[in-house]
Amino acid sequence: MKTIFDKTKIKNLKLKNRLFRSATWEALADADGHFDEEIYNIYDALAAGGVDCIISGFTSVSDDDRYFGGMARLSNDGLIAEHTRLTDIVHRNDIPIIAQLALGEYQNKEIDELTENDIDTIREMFVSAADRAVLAGYDGVQIHAAHGFFLSRYISPAHNRRANPEQLIIDIAKAVRERHPELHITMKINSSDFMYGGLDENGSMRICLACAPYLDSIEVSGNGTSVGGIKAGVNEAYFKCFALALAEKVDIPVILVGGHRSIDNMNNVLNEGKIEYLSLSRPLIREPDLINRWLRGKCSPAKCVSCNMCYRTPAHKCIFKLRGIE
Ligand SMILES: Cc1cc2nc3c(=O)[nH]c(=O)nc-3n(C[C@H](O)[C@H](O)[C@H](O)COP(=O)(O)O)c2cc1C
Repeated sequence: MKTIFDKTKIKNLKLKNRLFRSATWEALADADGHFDEEIYNIYDALAAGGVDCIISGFTSVSDDDRYFGGMARLSNDGLIAEHTRLTDIVHRNDIPIIAQLALGEYQNKEIDELTENDIDTIREMFVSAADRAVLAGYDGVQIHAAHGFFLSRYISPAHNRRANPEQLIIDIAKAVRERHPELHITMKINSSDFMYGGLDENGSMRICLACAPYLDSIEVSGNGTSVGGIKAGVNEAYFKCFALALAEKVDIPVILVGGHRSIDNMNNVLNEGKIEYLSLSRPLIREPDLINRWLRGKCSPAKCVSCNMCYRTPAHKCIFKLRGIE
């Protein structure tokens, strides 16, 4: 029997349970990627709150990427010191941290307009950002190929007609692994775009199987990622079917994100098949110490009601907490 509280290890990551903090954009960087002080408090609270590992909010590999406001960046060496401060804060709590490397847009170009030269440049931007992540003390990098970001569009037939579009992800992962063999390399991918003519589950499975030999884990998500109105025991773990099928076919751990709210449901998911890890975002915005609360024996489900107001508040805080509602 697996439980969420099992201690495990994946490659260089020593994990005190099976619960990751899934990447969560805090919108706490200025246009050049410099952090607001508040970000350090958020990561300190998260790191002390019981998760086994933190995946950072999306961190652009490009100086010019304006896809979202407040994006963190690892796009030039001048940003390394601030990221080092962040990883130090997390490491003080004896847990690892992974940088989610992302590209939103590249020079406002549609994917069909990209030249081979552009694609080489994009690959090199990811690899250089991974170099900086290592210098800043991150324990791993996550290649963000989900949620409408560039790489998820690149691997989607709705946006890209090239054969074998996954080759770009493979080339990034191979280059990073060659340079940093000890680094944990993971990928977040859509199980489906849920879009007519887009990446469906068969396509995503094909891409996951092609990329898996170059990765240390895969996190399964999907477009429309933050489903509203999740209720414990009713509609949790909404991308579970794909993750279960994937976990049967790959030799690396599968991490499942999306709608985990209760201990019972999470333990059931772990024991239904070969999914090894679960990751959470919104519940930890509401309760950064959720996992420690559960460890203290207060085992009621996460308080998060999945209202998604956190997308609209400053620093993406929980609206209930901002209004003083416990
Ligand atoms: C405010 C907010 C910011 C998010 N930022 C990111 C991000 O930077 N990268 C990412 O891959 N997913 C991001 N997500 C999606 C979450 O990682 C997660 O996949 C989704 O919310 C479902 O998990 P949950 O039910 O535990 O919240 C974000 C979600 C929220 C609510």
